[in-house]
Amino acid sequence: MTAEEAKILLTGQGLRPGLLREAESFREKYPWQGTRKVAVPRYPYFGKEILEQALAALLAGANLLLVGPKAAGKNILAESLALLLGRPAWNVSFHIDVDASYLIGMDTFKGGEVQFRPGPVHECASLGGVCILDEINMARNEAMAVLHSLLDHRRLLEVPGYEQLQLHPAARFIATMNYGYAGTRELNEALLSRFVVLHLPVPGEEELMALFSYEFPDLRQEAGQMLAALFMDIRKKYEEKEISGRALDLRGLLESVRLIRLGLTVKEALAMGLVNKCFDVQEKTLVEDLLALRVSEDWGAKEFFSF
Ligand SMILES: Nc1ncnc2c1ncn2[C@@H]1O[C@H](COP(=O)(O)OP(=O)(O)OP(=O)(O)O)[C@@H](O)[C@H]1O
Ligand SMILES: [Mg+2]
Repeated sequence: MTAEEAKILLTGQGLRPGLLREAESFREKYPWQGTRKVAVPRYPYFGKEILEQALAALLAGANLLLVGPKAAGKNILAESLALLLGRPAWNVSFHIDVDASYLIGMDTFKGGEVQFRPGPVHECASLGGVCILDEINMARNEAMAVLHSLLDHRRLLEVPGYEQLQLHPAARFIATMNYGYAGTRELNEALLSRFVVLHLPVPGEEELMALFSYEFPDLRQEAGQMLAALFMDIRKKYEEKEISGRALDLRGLLESVRLIRLGLTVKEALAMGLVNKCFDVQEKTLVEDLLALRVSEDWGAKEFFSF
């Protein structure tokens, strides 16, 4: 998919014209001429309201925090937004080993000389990219402290031993976090107050159908509807707290469709993609029952695809 095609898929969801004009002026004001590519996301984000709200936040100059469960599209939304702004993205994963010097950069020796090698946050901030602070709540405090002056009105990065770096006016920050999983922490309030926050929903039927027809153009309409209905059933059980979120896994659902295409039956494929993620016997049975109600389990590639 080209950048133009991706942009059409994103804006074609009926985003407000005023917002699209603002995005266009942003792109004209800050045309990207660097060597790093403005990447096309692997999937476009489907979800008009969230796209509008997120784009408005970035155009207003706010830092954006995307909160949501696994596979809610946090990363593809961040990448889709970078594309709409026409700026390249730098992805920084905040695992436990990330420290301040990794983010900012450090002195290294090259040809007998000390040289500063910028870290991803420094590079992105100075060139005016979109910095994706991925899984920000996994960060240790020391790494979070770097972000404070960067993310408020000062828009400054403290670089130890060097002058402070003033952010490029086009630089934007998008953080993502899962909430409440093992290993995640609360964001402290001072850091949280530097963001506007969007809670990403698990996609609904309409978004799923759009995603299916994008990813599997030859998937039959009825097959797509069947899977979407199953996913909605699982979502409902999850919302009613009857099951955990393990089987509510869009990545797993997409993988299942790929397995069906390769010749596995629907039952086999959905077992691998969704059902077998439930380790509790009762929960597994419940998901299997939902499956039996919704899908014709012995169907395979022939019934699913029109190739
Ligand atoms: N609204 C959506 N539009 C398009 N694709 C979506 C959407 N929501 C989820 N997906 C799909 O879910 C998968 C995961 O997307 P992504 O990696 O962005 O999720 P995430 O929220 O960052 O997950 P995690 O918390 O596990 O990192 C992709 O295959 C993506 O296509
Ligand atoms: Mg992610």
